[in-house]
Amino acid sequence: MNLFLDTCDLKPTPRRPVWIMRQAGRYLPEYRAIRAKHTFKELVETPDLCVELTLQPIRRYGLDAAIIFSDILVILEALGVPYQIVDGQGPVLDRPVRTSEALDRLATTPVTGSLGYVYTALELLRRELSPDVALIGFAGAPWTLACYLAEGGSSKTGFPAIKNMMEQEPDTFHAMMERLTEAVIDHLRAQLDAGADAVQVFDSWAGIVPEHQFRHACLPYLTRIADALKGERVIFFPRGAAHWLTAAEVGRFPILGVDGSHTLAHYRDRWGDEVVLQGNLDPAILTTDPDTIARETRAVLESHGPGPGHIFNLGHGITPEIPVEHVQALVETVHTYQLEVPA
Ligand code: CP3
Repeated sequence: MNLFLDTCDLKPTPRRPVWIMRQAGRYLPEYRAIRAKHTFKELVETPDLCVELTLQPIRRYGLDAAIIFSDILVILEALGVPYQIVDGQGPVLDRPVRTSEALDRLATTPVTGSLGYVYTALELLRRELSPDVALIGFAGAPWTLACYLAEGGSSKTGFPAIKNMMEQEPDTFHAMMERLTEAVIDHLRAQLDAGADAVQVFDSWAGIVPEHQFRHACLPYLTRIADALKGERVIFFPRGAAHWLTAAEVGRFPILGVDGSHTLAHYRDRWGDEVVLQGNLDPAILTTDPDTIARETRAVLESHGPGPGHIFNLGHGITPEIPVEHVQALVETVHTYQLEVPA
Protein backbone atom coordinates (compact mmCIF):
# COMPACT_ATOMS: atom_id res chain seq x y z
CA MET A 1 0.00 0.00 0.00
CA ASN A 2 1.28 3.47 -0.83
CA LEU A 3 -0.44 5.96 1.48
CA PHE A 4 0.90 9.00 -0.39
CA LEU A 5 -0.35 7.87 -3.79
CA ASP A 6 -3.72 6.72 -2.43
CA THR A 7 -4.14 10.12 -0.76
CA CYS A 8 -3.24 11.94 -3.99
CA ASP A 9 -5.96 9.87 -5.65
CA LEU A 10 -8.48 10.80 -2.89
CA LYS A 11 -8.72 7.21 -1.64
CA PRO A 12 -9.22 6.59 2.12
CA THR A 13 -6.15 5.47 4.11
CA PRO A 14 -5.76 4.14 7.68
CA ARG A 15 -3.42 7.04 8.53
CA ARG A 16 -2.08 10.21 6.90
CA PRO A 17 1.04 10.12 4.73
CA VAL A 18 3.75 12.56 5.87
CA TRP A 19 6.83 14.14 4.33
CA ILE A 20 8.59 17.41 5.14
CA MET A 21 9.56 20.19 2.78
CA ARG A 22 13.39 20.46 2.74
CA GLN A 23 13.59 17.12 4.60
CA ALA A 24 17.10 16.52 3.24
CA GLY A 25 19.42 19.25 4.46
CA ARG A 26 21.47 20.96 7.09
CA TYR A 27 19.39 20.01 10.16
CA LEU A 28 20.55 16.38 9.59
CA PRO A 29 24.03 15.50 10.96
CA GLU A 30 24.43 12.86 8.22
CA TYR A 31 23.83 15.60 5.60
CA ARG A 32 26.38 17.93 7.18
CA ALA A 33 28.97 15.12 7.21
CA ILE A 34 28.71 14.66 3.43
CA ARG A 35 28.32 18.39 2.73
CA ALA A 36 31.64 19.04 4.54
CA LYS A 37 33.42 17.17 1.73
CA HIS A 38 31.57 18.55 -1.33
CA THR A 39 30.17 21.74 -2.77
CA PHE A 40 26.37 21.95 -2.93
CA LYS A 41 26.47 21.57 -6.71
CA GLU A 42 28.59 18.41 -6.55
CA LEU A 43 25.89 16.91 -4.33
CA VAL A 44 23.13 17.85 -6.74
CA GLU A 45 24.97 16.84 -9.92
CA THR A 46 26.46 13.49 -8.82
CA PRO A 47 23.66 10.88 -8.97
CA ASP A 48 25.16 8.57 -6.30
CA LEU A 49 25.48 11.43 -3.80
CA CYS A 50 22.04 12.76 -4.74
CA VAL A 51 20.51 9.32 -4.14
CA GLU A 52 22.23 8.99 -0.75
CA LEU A 53 21.03 12.43 0.42
CA THR A 54 17.48 11.78 -0.80
CA LEU A 55 17.38 8.54 1.20
CA GLN A 56 18.82 9.94 4.47
CA PRO A 57 15.55 11.30 5.91
CA ILE A 58 13.63 8.21 4.72
CA ARG A 59 15.99 5.91 6.64
CA ARG A 60 15.94 8.04 9.76
CA TYR A 61 12.19 8.69 10.01
CA GLY A 62 10.32 6.25 7.76
CA LEU A 63 8.68 9.11 5.87
CA ASP A 64 6.07 8.23 3.24
CA ALA A 65 7.63 10.19 0.37
CA ALA A 66 11.18 10.97 -0.75
CA ILE A 67 11.84 14.25 -2.56
CA ILE A 68 14.82 14.24 -4.87
CA PHE A 69 17.83 16.16 -3.57
CA SER A 70 18.11 18.97 -6.13
CA ASP A 71 17.34 22.68 -6.36
CA ILE A 72 14.91 24.95 -8.16
CA LEU A 73 17.92 26.83 -9.62
CA VAL A 74 19.08 23.95 -11.86
CA ILE A 75 16.66 25.19 -14.53
CA LEU A 76 18.32 28.61 -14.60
CA GLU A 77 21.71 27.00 -15.11
CA ALA A 78 20.26 24.88 -17.93
CA LEU A 79 19.05 28.14 -19.51
CA GLY A 80 22.60 29.49 -19.43
CA VAL A 81 22.80 31.28 -16.07
CA PRO A 82 24.97 29.25 -13.64
CA TYR A 83 24.53 29.64 -9.85
CA GLN A 84 26.59 28.99 -6.72
CA ILE A 85 25.38 28.50 -3.15
CA VAL A 86 27.49 30.81 -1.00
CA ASP A 87 27.67 30.21 2.77
CA GLY A 88 25.65 32.78 4.67
CA GLN A 89 24.37 34.36 1.47
CA GLY A 90 22.40 31.66 -0.33
CA PRO A 91 22.21 31.45 -4.12
CA VAL A 92 24.31 33.78 -6.29
CA LEU A 93 23.76 33.77 -10.08
CA ASP A 94 26.58 34.54 -12.51
CA ARG A 95 24.52 37.36 -14.07
CA PRO A 96 20.97 38.61 -13.64
CA VAL A 97 18.54 38.82 -16.60
CA ARG A 98 16.73 42.18 -16.71
CA THR A 99 16.64 43.24 -20.37
CA SER A 100 15.35 41.78 -23.62
CA GLU A 101 18.98 41.51 -24.84
CA ALA A 102 19.91 39.38 -21.82
CA LEU A 103 16.76 37.31 -22.30
CA ASP A 104 17.67 36.68 -25.95
CA ARG A 105 20.98 35.22 -24.85
CA LEU A 106 19.31 32.42 -22.83
CA ALA A 107 19.52 28.92 -24.28
CA THR A 108 16.70 28.09 -26.70
CA THR A 109 17.23 24.31 -26.61
CA PRO A 110 15.13 22.22 -24.17
CA VAL A 111 16.51 22.41 -20.60
CA THR A 112 16.16 18.64 -20.26
CA GLY A 113 19.27 18.25 -22.46
CA SER A 114 21.54 19.39 -19.63
CA LEU A 115 19.59 18.06 -16.63
CA GLY A 116 20.28 14.37 -17.24
CA TYR A 117 21.83 14.04 -13.76
CA VAL A 118 18.38 14.66 -12.22
CA TYR A 119 16.69 12.01 -14.34
CA THR A 120 19.48 9.47 -13.73
CA ALA A 121 19.14 9.97 -9.96
CA LEU A 122 15.35 9.51 -10.16
CA GLU A 123 15.77 6.24 -12.07
CA LEU A 124 18.23 4.97 -9.45
CA LEU A 125 15.95 6.09 -6.62
CA ARG A 126 12.84 4.44 -7.98
CA ARG A 127 14.74 1.14 -8.06
CA GLU A 128 16.16 1.62 -4.58
CA LEU A 129 13.01 2.80 -2.74
CA SER A 130 10.47 0.37 -1.39
CA PRO A 131 7.15 0.49 -3.30
CA ASP A 132 5.33 1.96 -0.29
CA VAL A 133 7.46 5.13 -0.40
CA ALA A 134 6.50 7.67 -3.08
CA LEU A 135 9.15 9.54 -5.08
CA ILE A 136 8.63 13.28 -5.65
CA GLY A 137 10.33 15.43 -8.30
CA PHE A 138 10.06 19.21 -8.30
CA ALA A 139 10.67 22.55 -9.98
CA GLY A 140 10.39 26.19 -9.04
CA ALA A 141 7.32 27.99 -10.38
CA PRO A 142 7.96 30.49 -13.21
CA TRP A 143 7.36 33.49 -10.91
CA THR A 144 9.74 32.27 -8.18
CA LEU A 145 12.41 31.43 -10.77
CA ALA A 146 11.94 34.87 -12.33
CA CYS A 147 12.49 36.48 -8.91
CA TYR A 148 15.96 34.87 -8.67
CA LEU A 149 16.77 35.34 -12.36
CA ALA A 150 16.12 39.10 -12.36
CA GLU A 151 17.62 39.73 -8.91
CA GLY A 152 20.71 37.55 -9.46
CA GLY A 153 20.21 35.87 -6.07
CA SER A 154 18.17 36.11 -2.87
CA SER A 155 16.63 39.38 -1.72
CA LYS A 156 15.96 40.81 1.72
CA THR A 157 13.77 43.55 0.21
CA GLY A 158 11.17 41.53 -1.71
CA PHE A 159 12.89 41.07 -5.11
CA PRO A 160 12.64 44.63 -6.48
CA ALA A 161 14.28 43.80 -9.85
CA ILE A 162 11.49 41.53 -11.06
CA LYS A 163 8.77 43.88 -9.77
CA ASN A 164 10.42 46.74 -11.60
CA MET A 165 10.65 44.69 -14.79
CA MET A 166 7.00 43.67 -14.56
CA GLU A 167 5.95 47.35 -14.55
CA GLN A 168 8.60 48.95 -16.77
CA GLU A 169 9.29 46.18 -19.30
CA PRO A 170 6.04 44.19 -19.45
CA ASP A 171 6.81 42.57 -22.82
CA THR A 172 10.22 41.36 -21.65
CA PHE A 173 8.68 40.20 -18.38
CA HIS A 174 6.04 38.10 -20.13
CA ALA A 175 8.55 36.73 -22.65
CA MET A 176 10.72 35.64 -19.73
CA MET A 177 7.74 34.03 -17.98
CA GLU A 178 6.86 32.16 -21.19
CA ARG A 179 10.39 30.78 -21.51
CA LEU A 180 10.44 29.74 -17.84
CA THR A 181 7.00 28.10 -18.07
CA GLU A 182 8.10 26.00 -21.03
CA ALA A 183 11.29 24.98 -19.19
CA VAL A 184 9.36 24.04 -16.02
CA ILE A 185 6.86 21.90 -17.95
CA ASP A 186 9.67 20.10 -19.81
CA HIS A 187 11.61 19.45 -16.59
CA LEU A 188 8.55 18.18 -14.68
CA ARG A 189 7.49 15.93 -17.55
CA ALA A 190 11.02 14.46 -17.79
CA GLN A 191 11.06 13.78 -14.02
CA LEU A 192 7.72 11.94 -14.25
CA ASP A 193 9.07 9.94 -17.20
CA ALA A 194 12.19 9.06 -15.17
CA GLY A 195 10.13 7.52 -12.36
CA ALA A 196 8.82 10.32 -10.13
CA ASP A 197 5.35 9.40 -8.81
CA ALA A 198 4.45 13.04 -8.25
CA VAL A 199 6.01 16.47 -8.76
CA GLN A 200 5.79 19.67 -6.71
CA VAL A 201 5.85 23.21 -8.08
CA PHE A 202 7.41 25.55 -5.48
CA ASP A 203 6.02 29.08 -5.84
CA SER A 204 7.84 30.20 -2.71
CA TRP A 205 7.49 33.90 -3.52
CA ALA A 206 3.86 33.92 -4.77
CA GLY A 207 2.84 35.89 -1.68
CA ILE A 208 5.24 38.84 -2.04
CA VAL A 209 2.96 40.71 -4.47
CA PRO A 210 -0.55 42.02 -3.90
CA GLU A 211 -3.45 39.84 -4.98
CA HIS A 212 -4.04 41.52 -8.36
CA GLN A 213 -0.41 41.04 -9.32
CA PHE A 214 -0.50 37.42 -8.16
CA ARG A 215 -3.37 36.91 -10.62
CA HIS A 216 -1.37 38.64 -13.33
CA ALA A 217 2.16 37.32 -12.75
CA CYS A 218 1.83 33.93 -11.05
CA LEU A 219 -1.56 32.28 -11.45
CA PRO A 220 -1.84 32.15 -15.28
CA TYR A 221 1.51 30.34 -15.51
CA LEU A 222 0.63 27.89 -12.73
CA THR A 223 -2.60 27.14 -14.58
CA ARG A 224 -0.68 26.53 -17.80
CA ILE A 225 1.51 23.99 -16.00
CA ALA A 226 -1.58 22.30 -14.52
CA ASP A 227 -3.20 22.04 -17.94
CA ALA A 228 -0.02 20.69 -19.58
CA LEU A 229 0.32 17.96 -16.93
CA LYS A 230 -3.37 17.13 -16.56
CA GLY A 231 -3.89 13.63 -15.13
CA GLU A 232 -0.50 13.63 -13.33
CA ARG A 233 -0.03 14.06 -9.59
CA VAL A 234 1.16 17.67 -9.37
CA ILE A 235 1.38 19.53 -6.05
CA PHE A 236 1.12 23.33 -6.40
CA PHE A 237 2.57 25.32 -3.51
CA PRO A 238 1.79 29.04 -3.91
CA ARG A 239 3.27 30.10 -0.56
CA GLY A 240 1.47 33.02 1.03
CA ALA A 241 -1.09 33.21 -1.78
CA ALA A 242 -3.30 30.10 -1.54
CA HIS A 243 -5.89 31.96 0.53
CA TRP A 244 -6.66 34.18 -2.49
CA LEU A 245 -7.73 31.24 -4.64
CA THR A 246 -11.45 30.72 -5.24
CA ALA A 247 -13.05 27.27 -5.52
CA ALA A 248 -13.30 27.73 -9.30
CA GLU A 249 -9.59 28.51 -9.59
CA VAL A 250 -8.63 25.60 -7.33
CA GLY A 251 -10.62 23.27 -9.58
CA ARG A 252 -7.73 23.40 -12.07
CA PHE A 253 -5.21 22.08 -9.51
CA PRO A 254 -5.23 18.45 -8.30
CA ILE A 255 -3.17 19.01 -5.11
CA LEU A 256 -2.51 22.27 -3.25
CA GLY A 257 0.21 22.85 -0.69
CA VAL A 258 -0.95 25.45 1.83
CA ASP A 259 0.97 27.46 4.40
CA GLY A 260 -0.07 27.83 8.03
CA SER A 261 -1.86 31.16 7.71
CA HIS A 262 -5.31 29.49 7.68
CA THR A 263 -6.58 26.18 9.10
CA LEU A 264 -7.10 23.15 6.87
CA ALA A 265 -10.79 23.30 7.88
CA HIS A 266 -10.93 26.79 6.37
CA TYR A 267 -9.45 25.64 3.05
CA ARG A 268 -11.82 22.60 2.95
CA ASP A 269 -14.86 24.82 3.59
CA ARG A 270 -13.78 27.25 0.90
CA TRP A 271 -12.77 24.77 -1.78
CA GLY A 272 -14.82 21.59 -1.21
CA ASP A 273 -13.72 17.94 -1.20
CA GLU A 274 -12.21 17.44 -4.67
CA VAL A 275 -8.79 19.01 -4.08
CA VAL A 276 -6.08 17.20 -2.12
CA LEU A 277 -4.51 19.43 0.57
CA GLN A 278 -0.89 19.30 1.71
CA GLY A 279 0.29 21.00 4.88
CA ASN A 280 0.33 22.93 7.09
CA LEU A 281 2.11 22.88 10.48
CA ASP A 282 3.98 26.14 11.11
CA PRO A 283 7.70 25.24 10.84
CA ALA A 284 8.43 27.45 13.87
CA ILE A 285 6.58 24.90 16.07
CA LEU A 286 9.51 22.56 15.45
CA THR A 287 11.69 24.88 17.56
CA THR A 288 9.60 24.19 20.72
CA ASP A 289 9.60 20.76 22.45
CA PRO A 290 8.28 17.24 21.64
CA ASP A 291 5.03 17.61 23.64
CA THR A 292 4.11 20.92 22.03
CA ILE A 293 5.01 19.53 18.61
CA ALA A 294 2.78 16.46 19.19
CA ARG A 295 -0.12 18.67 20.33
CA GLU A 296 0.13 21.08 17.38
CA THR A 297 0.57 18.19 14.94
CA ARG A 298 -2.67 16.65 16.24
CA ALA A 299 -4.38 20.03 15.90
CA VAL A 300 -3.51 20.08 12.19
CA LEU A 301 -4.75 16.48 11.75
CA GLU A 302 -7.98 17.31 13.60
CA SER A 303 -8.51 20.49 11.65
CA HIS A 304 -8.69 18.49 8.44
CA GLY A 305 -10.86 15.75 9.95
CA PRO A 306 -11.11 12.09 8.86
CA GLY A 307 -12.05 12.52 5.19
CA PRO A 308 -9.60 11.54 2.44
CA GLY A 309 -7.19 13.91 0.71
CA HIS A 310 -4.74 15.24 3.29
CA ILE A 311 -0.95 14.88 3.00
CA PHE A 312 0.73 15.98 6.24
CA ASN A 313 3.59 18.47 5.80
CA LEU A 314 4.81 21.77 7.18
CA GLY A 315 3.52 25.10 5.89
CA HIS A 316 7.04 25.83 4.58
CA GLY A 317 10.49 24.21 4.64
CA ILE A 318 12.24 22.98 7.78
CA THR A 319 15.06 25.26 8.97
CA PRO A 320 18.66 24.20 9.76
CA GLU A 321 18.57 24.63 13.57
CA ILE A 322 15.79 22.07 14.26
CA PRO A 323 16.86 19.13 16.52
CA VAL A 324 16.32 15.72 14.90
CA GLU A 325 14.25 14.50 17.91
CA HIS A 326 11.74 17.26 17.24
CA VAL A 327 11.14 15.94 13.74
CA GLN A 328 10.85 12.45 15.22
CA ALA A 329 8.03 13.69 17.48
CA LEU A 330 6.14 15.09 14.50
CA VAL A 331 6.47 11.93 12.39
CA GLU A 332 5.53 9.60 15.27
CA THR A 333 2.44 11.65 16.01
CA VAL A 334 1.24 11.43 12.41
CA HIS A 335 2.11 7.74 12.13
CA THR A 336 0.18 6.76 15.27
CA TYR A 337 -2.87 8.97 14.65
CA GLN A 338 -5.54 6.53 13.44
CA LEU A 339 -8.16 7.66 10.97
CA GLU A 340 -11.51 5.96 11.04
CA VAL A 341 -11.91 4.43 7.62
CA PRO A 342 -15.49 3.58 6.68
CA ALA A 343 -15.88 -0.21 6.21
O1 CP3 B 1 13.18 19.23 0.10
C1 CP3 B 1 14.26 18.63 -0.03
O2 CP3 B 1 14.82 18.05 0.91
C2 CP3 B 1 14.88 18.55 -1.41
C3 CP3 B 1 15.90 19.49 -1.67
C4 CP3 B 1 15.61 20.96 -1.93
C5 CP3 B 1 16.66 21.93 -1.83
N1 CP3 B 1 16.17 23.12 -2.29
C6 CP3 B 1 18.03 21.66 -1.36
C7 CP3 B 1 18.85 22.77 -0.86
C8 CP3 B 1 14.46 21.63 -2.38
C9 CP3 B 1 13.05 21.10 -2.60
C10 CP3 B 1 14.84 22.98 -2.61
C11 CP3 B 1 13.91 23.99 -3.16
C12 CP3 B 1 14.31 25.41 -3.17
N2 CP3 B 1 15.55 25.94 -3.44
C13 CP3 B 1 13.41 26.49 -3.01
C14 CP3 B 1 11.91 26.36 -2.81
C15 CP3 B 1 11.56 25.86 -1.47
C16 CP3 B 1 11.55 26.86 -0.39
O3 CP3 B 1 12.15 26.58 0.67
O4 CP3 B 1 10.91 27.92 -0.55
C17 CP3 B 1 14.14 27.68 -3.11
C18 CP3 B 1 13.58 29.07 -2.96
C19 CP3 B 1 15.49 27.33 -3.39
C20 CP3 B 1 16.64 28.22 -3.63
C21 CP3 B 1 17.70 28.01 -2.62
N3 CP3 B 1 18.58 26.96 -2.60
C22 CP3 B 1 17.99 28.85 -1.52
C23 CP3 B 1 17.25 30.11 -1.17
C24 CP3 B 1 19.08 28.26 -0.86
C25 CP3 B 1 19.86 28.84 0.29
C26 CP3 B 1 19.08 28.98 1.50
C27 CP3 B 1 19.01 27.67 2.22
O5 CP3 B 1 17.90 27.22 2.53
O6 CP3 B 1 20.08 27.16 2.53
C28 CP3 B 1 19.40 27.05 -1.52
C29 CP3 B 1 20.43 26.06 -1.12
C30 CP3 B 1 19.94 24.71 -0.73
N4 CP3 B 1 19.03 23.98 -1.46
C31 CP3 B 1 20.37 23.94 0.40
C32 CP3 B 1 19.69 22.72 0.31
C33 CP3 B 1 19.85 21.52 1.23
C34 CP3 B 1 21.42 24.34 1.43
C35 CP3 B 1 22.77 24.14 0.83
C36 CP3 B 1 23.90 24.02 1.79
O7 CP3 B 1 24.12 22.93 2.34
O8 CP3 B 1 24.61 25.01 1.97
